[in-house]
Amino acid sequence: MSSIVTLTLNPALDISLHVDAVVPNHKIRTDPPRYDPGGGGLNVSRVCRRLGEPTTTVAPVGGPPGQRMLSLLTADKSPDGTADNARIVAIQGDTRQSVTVLGRQSGDEYRFVLPGPTLSPGEIAACLAEVLSAAESCRCLVISGSMPHGVEDDFIEGLVGRLSDCRVIVDTSGSALRAALTSGAYLVKPSARELGSLVEGDLITEADVTLAAHEIMAWANIEVLVVSIGAGGAIAVTPEQTFRLRAPTVQVRSAVGAGDSMVAGIAVGLHRGLDLPRAVALGIASGTAAVLTDGTELCHASDVERLLPLVHMN
Ligand SMILES: Nc1ncnc2c1ncn2[C@@H]1O[C@H](COP(=O)(O)OP(=O)(O)OP(=O)(O)O)[C@@H](O)[C@H]1O
Ligand SMILES: [Mg+2]
Repeated sequence: MSSIVTLTLNPALDISLHVDAVVPNHKIRTDPPRYDPGGGGLNVSRVCRRLGEPTTTVAPVGGPPGQRMLSLLTADKSPDGTADNARIVAIQGDTRQSVTVLGRQSGDEYRFVLPGPTLSPGEIAACLAEVLSAAESCRCLVISGSMPHGVEDDFIEGLVGRLSDCRVIVDTSGSALRAALTSGAYLVKPSARELGSLVEGDLITEADVTLAAHEIMAWANIEVLVVSIGAGGAIAVTPEQTFRLRAPTVQVRSAVGAGDSMVAGIAVGLHRGLDLPRAVALGIASGTAAVLTDGTELCHASDVERLLPLVHMN
């Protein structure tokens, strides 16, 4: 039984392509594609394992893309042979695919996210039953990624209400993010961009972000709001404290997976009994480590270890 469980309701088969340049109206030859299992919670699971905490990962899986994603997930083992414990709910529709194209000349990344399947009420109920069973004696459940069609915004609140002694961490977007903020979850991690979609006016400075985070905590029903601000690190707000942690300055290769790596670092930190600032610092080191790697490649534990002492509070 893993102590960290992740739920990915809209997982994906990630396809990464390298090209010389993206030019219109021409055939663009690509290098051989790289395939990875993707979607918020699956990435969180893979990073937790790299940081030394194998997880149980719950996800609906369907069609040939889903089977490919699943075989990549189960083949992704740590050097000691540990893989994540995958608890799969078979669904009728095809698992989503997502395509990242990296232009070598410009260094620009283009990300195409195909629409995912619509889950039926029976499939949603099966996902709920599976995650409740997986989370029975776990201490931390991470719900991450977008919500598929068919899943109502109150899904997270309903799930949180049926768990006891389990800290729930949520990283999602759009109307599901707004709903997560009143769900009774322990911690919600929007990016500053996502936070901006919840308040009036633009969030330009860090003071704007802090003000917006306080405004949201005034009506939210969660214990911790961690707003990630890319290269700036993060601002965390609880009813008792507000703190700001700066990310180390690094050479960015790809920001894909930074948020998922950050959430994994926070979950691992809390699971290991670190206090909140130290857990968020581990999250920032993991997020920053993820930007050092190409495309969909996730962070390396050695980079996280090296960067952690460079995360500063102020
Ligand atoms: N350019 C960067 N330099 C250093 N660290 C970074 C950089 N970009 C991201 N990070 C790290 O990754 C964390 C998460 O990044 P970010 O705030 O962009 O969230 P995100 O979830 O990836 O964003 P979104 O979901 O809006 O795409 C940051 O808090 C930071 O630790
Ligand atoms: Mg994100």
